[in-house]
Amino acid sequence: MTSKELRKNFLLFFKKKGHNIVPSSSLIPTDSSVLFTTAGMQQFKRYYLGEKSPYGKNVCSCQKCFRTSDIEEVGDKSHLTFLEMLGNFSFDGYFKEKAINLAFELLDSVFHIPSSKMIVTVFGGDTDVPRDEESVRIWEKLGFSEKKGNLRFAGKEDNFWGPTGLEGPCGPTTEIHIGELELWNLVFNEYYKDQNGKLTPLKQKGVDTGMGLERLAMVVQGKPSVFETDLFLPIIEELNSNLKSQISNLQFKTQNLKKSKRIIADHVKGAVFLISDGVFPSNVERGYVVRRVLRRAIRYGKILELPDKFLIPIAQKVIEIYKDIYPELKSKETDILTIIQNEEEKFNKTLKIGLKELKEQISKLKAQNIKSLSGKIVFNLYQSYGFPLELTKEIAKEEGFTIDEWGFKEEFKKHQEASRVGAERKFRRK
Ligand code: SER
Repeated sequence: MTSKELRKNFLLFFKKKGHNIVPSSSLIPTDSSVLFTTAGMQQFKRYYLGEKSPYGKNVCSCQKCFRTSDIEEVGDKSHLTFLEMLGNFSFDGYFKEKAINLAFELLDSVFHIPSSKMIVTVFGGDTDVPRDEESVRIWEKLGFSEKKGNLRFAGKEDNFWGPTGLEGPCGPTTEIHIGELELWNLVFNEYYKDQNGKLTPLKQKGVDTGMGLERLAMVVQGKPSVFETDLFLPIIEELNSNLKSQISNLQFKTQNLKKSKRIIADHVKGAVFLISDGVFPSNVERGYVVRRVLRRAIRYGKILELPDKFLIPIAQKVIEIYKDIYPELKSKETDILTIIQNEEEKFNKTLKIGLKELKEQISKLKAQNIKSLSGKIVFNLYQSYGFPLELTKEIAKEEGFTIDEWGFKEEFKKHQEASRVGAERKFRRK
């Protein structure tokens, strides 16, 4: 099944089961306590708390999500910054029994994933929340049990979800894994967590499930990673066609080669979607995230010795893959590509000078047997050459160096203070 079919079949299955299909909301959430939309439930948060849903009690969606929390993991087989989350939701409609049965039926009879490959996890209980016996009983009827080894218990770190932002609905989860891969997370919203971390039972119960489309494609298409699925392959192939047959950096092992390509593919995709939702590169908040992923992609491009302007054809591939599902990508194509190209040109210039500077500093320090970059050096790279902190950290790590992050933050504060004083003076002079 292609990813287009997977997306469509997921939504149609839930439609047939009485759910209304709700379009994806923007990557910029309405809840100002979070930077990005990271889960399908975010646009529905208030319906878990009693407000009437205009879409009815049971809905489903395919939601664009962006997760900065997983950025360091990108490059392995399944973590991404941008992903599409397939989900079904119920606000005071059905609960555990129906949610688990629907999930199982879909995987089993529509996507034909053998149940012998599934392992489920259930919340094991702690001092605040009891073990989820109800879910255990439902799974047992479907052939899963602790005894058979296909049902396991886990604690709050793994099997309790939410809230997004500072407060909100949350609850125990049951997850469906395929081998080691977490495929589908079923959240049972039974509690409200307030800003002090206190849990109060919710008056109405809710269901919030999330399954990454990319992971589903990996499983159904039988691929070793999400990057071999049809949601990524054309991007990776485009990258391959740009690669020289031999990379001169011989220290560079095949493993790193694969990882770098994956990071570039993920980050360019993320940037395209963020820009299409109106997030433009800058030095603050969301804008900083687009800048960071683009710069990170460029930097990995340098490691792979890709030509100076390599981002555009990759971004075009991203648009090609998704344009039928997200037509705004096509209508905004010129703007998206221009923004990416400007960012690439700007960064290429500073990167060259900055890298030289950093390498010089590193060899000087090595000669003195020092293996750490001071906050001043790191801040200077940030300030003068636009090096994001994380980029310096990565380059430093490759050289066996650490960086003084605390020192960097101090320098940053000092600089902010100085500019504030400067601005105030200017203001007074007026
Ligand atoms: N909100 C949960 C998650 O993102 C389930 O949708 O995993």
